[in-house]
Amino acid sequence: MDTTIVIFGASGDLTSRKLVPALFSNFRKHRLPEHTRIIGVARTPFSDEAFRDRMREAVAGVASGPFDETMWTAFAQSLSYLSGDGGSPEFAAQLALRLAGSGHGPAAVVYYLATAPDLYTRIIRALAGASLLKESDGQGFRRVVIEKPFGRDLASALALNGDLHEVLSESQIYRIDHYLGKETVQNLLVFRFGNAIFEPLWNRNYVDHVQITVAESVGVEHRAGYYDHTGILRDMVQNHLLQLVTLVAMESPVVFEADALRNEKVKVLKAIRRISPEYSARHTVRGQYEGYRTEEGVAPDSMTETFTAIKLHVENWRWQGVPFYVRSGKRMAEKASEIAIQFRRPPTQILDVAAGRTELFTNRLSMCIQPDEGIHLRFLAKVPDQGLQTHPVDMDFHFRDSFVGTPLPEAYERLLLDALNGDASLFARSDEIETSWEIADGIREGWESDYAPPLERYPRGSWGPAAADDLLGRDGRWWIHDCTPHGTAGA
Ligand code: BG6
Repeated sequence: MDTTIVIFGASGDLTSRKLVPALFSNFRKHRLPEHTRIIGVARTPFSDEAFRDRMREAVAGVASGPFDETMWTAFAQSLSYLSGDGGSPEFAAQLALRLAGSGHGPAAVVYYLATAPDLYTRIIRALAGASLLKESDGQGFRRVVIEKPFGRDLASALALNGDLHEVLSESQIYRIDHYLGKETVQNLLVFRFGNAIFEPLWNRNYVDHVQITVAESVGVEHRAGYYDHTGILRDMVQNHLLQLVTLVAMESPVVFEADALRNEKVKVLKAIRRISPEYSARHTVRGQYEGYRTEEGVAPDSMTETFTAIKLHVENWRWQGVPFYVRSGKRMAEKASEIAIQFRRPPTQILDVAAGRTELFTNRLSMCIQPDEGIHLRFLAKVPDQGLQTHPVDMDFHFRDSFVGTPLPEAYERLLLDALNGDASLFARSDEIETSWEIADGIREGWESDYAPPLERYPRGSWGPAAADDLLGRDGRWWIHDCTPHGTAGA
């Protein structure tokens, strides 16, 4: 098959930091189809040579080990560049010429939209106008991968889905959420549905509450132009955090296949209780790190949130009454993404009482998504030679120890291969995106109402505003941070 990947937005950060390194890594692992060509598209004029040099520098810059010069030379031959306005019919005609068969059989084309989102519709229309999206039986395929943000609210997501569906079938559309490409996120499904001993406990009878934290130590960096109009609710919660909620809460699909999986995820999203404005201040917290307003490109009176904590309820048979607390923030104490499943207390606390402990013990399962990838299970053990003294201990699994010599691949490696192979399991379907926007829009509506929680300032390098602790404190709970190399840091 004659395979081509066309990357729109090829002069941008995503292309050089993530996409081309991921493609190169797949090439080194011999996972790209034979005769794969990669065409970078952007307005900036570059020769093929200049584009290759730029990509070489970028890939060498992010490589964890020594740079494989021989492999790069072989890979670089597949890279070329086309400059122009990707949304214009003239450009589409030029691209059509470039895509004309190279004599290796039916043509398979993946168009990757890594541009500013306001260009998506124009690009798609121009491609359709030049018949570059049309599939015919036995003649390869045409697929479109779309980067986030997919809309900025329900109305714009519906409009974008409408535009796409005018010229593409849903099966041709791959909406990326790179969190789903992370090994540890996929391992959540393996952990839940490949093991028999946890699933019986995975419900309201045994789980007290769930916490999901996605904390970053970086600030907005050079993305203020985008970020200041976006905020963390749109940038992280509507997509990554809600995806994590669905994977924790979903039922087992009947088969491990895209639609079955996505049907179950949509059911979870539909079961999430909408937070009406009157409950906004009770169930949500928003914060902004100190100094955010003086960052370059940020409005001096910006009200954009860089932190949020939200209490969600999944109102179904399995999860009724079990809060899901989610939080995410920039400029937090560390980069840490983790999910904690806090189990209920034992029915009696005789051992805690005997040990004179005031903090009552609970079992906890912590799924560490990054950077300390693994799983910890916390349970109580007897302290030797100390009467009835007990102490919480950890049973640990770390990818790096159990799979020595197999470094975790970047999320984009897997996702790019899946798009090439036609597996949409790890991509979001239109109804998934729309339902998540409904949830996010509800929260935003509360933030724009008279019931809005104040925008709290929090110090850089902290765990967010005190109000986030109060959100759990009111329920007699506290935030958990177990995913450190030694586990149970916050226990
Ligand atoms: C992106 C957000 O989707 O995810 C960024 O737009 C954020 O703001 C990034 O920094 C975090 O991704 P990761 O993989 O580093 O957790």
